[in-house]
Amino acid sequence: MASVLLTRRIPSSVLTPLQTQHTVDLYSGDAAIPRDELLRRVADKDALICVLTDKIDAAVMDAAPSLKIVANIAVGYDNIDIAQARQRNIIVTNTPDVLTEAVAELTWALILGIARRVAEGDRLIRRDGWKGWALDFMLGTELRGKQLGIIGAGRIGRAVAAKAPAFGMRVVFAGRSASRTKDPAYTSVSVDELLVTSDVISIHAPATAETRHLINKRTLARMKRSALLVNTARGSIIDEEALAWALDERLIAGAALDVFEHEPDVPPPLRQHENVLLVPHVGSATRETRTAMAELAARNVLAVLNGDKPLTPVT
Ligand code: DGY
Repeated sequence: MASVLLTRRIPSSVLTPLQTQHTVDLYSGDAAIPRDELLRRVADKDALICVLTDKIDAAVMDAAPSLKIVANIAVGYDNIDIAQARQRNIIVTNTPDVLTEAVAELTWALILGIARRVAEGDRLIRRDGWKGWALDFMLGTELRGKQLGIIGAGRIGRAVAAKAPAFGMRVVFAGRSASRTKDPAYTSVSVDELLVTSDVISIHAPATAETRHLINKRTLARMKRSALLVNTARGSIIDEEALAWALDERLIAGAALDVFEHEPDVPPPLRQHENVLLVPHVGSATRETRTAMAELAARNVLAVLNGDKPLTPVT
């Protein structure tokens, strides 16, 4: 029997089979595991199942000399120092594929929600501000005939694109993965061309040094004044101060954000804008998907502890 640290509660349908094979130390607090607790509890573990709020850096790895695998319950793995893991021969896994549709659906919820001012209307009614129907009241933007610009042509970006024809939108892609794809169904353009020509811009790139603050004062100023910006990828890709500035200056028409640079902090200037739709990092938050993510992380751990290859290693 090996020993596994689990930093968050997971469905019992996933936990129980894991417990029958290994000793599981489950941190069951409601918030993220405190750093000192993580360092203390990981010390004697062979495997770590963690989530994106856990920073898994050299100090954590040094504290756990027998650690063989870090299984992240997330597709993004910017919370893990991959180079440090590699140096120590620690396998890192993530949870691709199983969350693709859930994130794509949430992306469309945000696109429709910001284009048709859904949350704004809800807030208006709740504060008794609705005075009745009028021809020019709360006008939004129609999607039909418009261009959706997707930054990042990975699984999620492509799943978002697949739903665009249902709304009569044409799609262009930009980003590293977009320039690599040979699929003729994807019109690949430069980031600049995408910014200048798109009506809705949706971000689906990973958080890397290269994509940090990709959306900044300069790139925001390149967008159409009618553009809507959507981010369900990682908060660090948008310079939030620059976004608040662009909204103040009416350089773009609105933004819908699921992710933030310093979660759970959402900068007050963004909260003040009616034309910003905010949701609390719930891209993959469906019962089906969160269970599938936990299951995949557990299967990765079981495989590695069994001496087999992980199913979804980060390469
Ligand atoms: C991920 O898996 O990276 C998502 O952001 C989780 O919601």
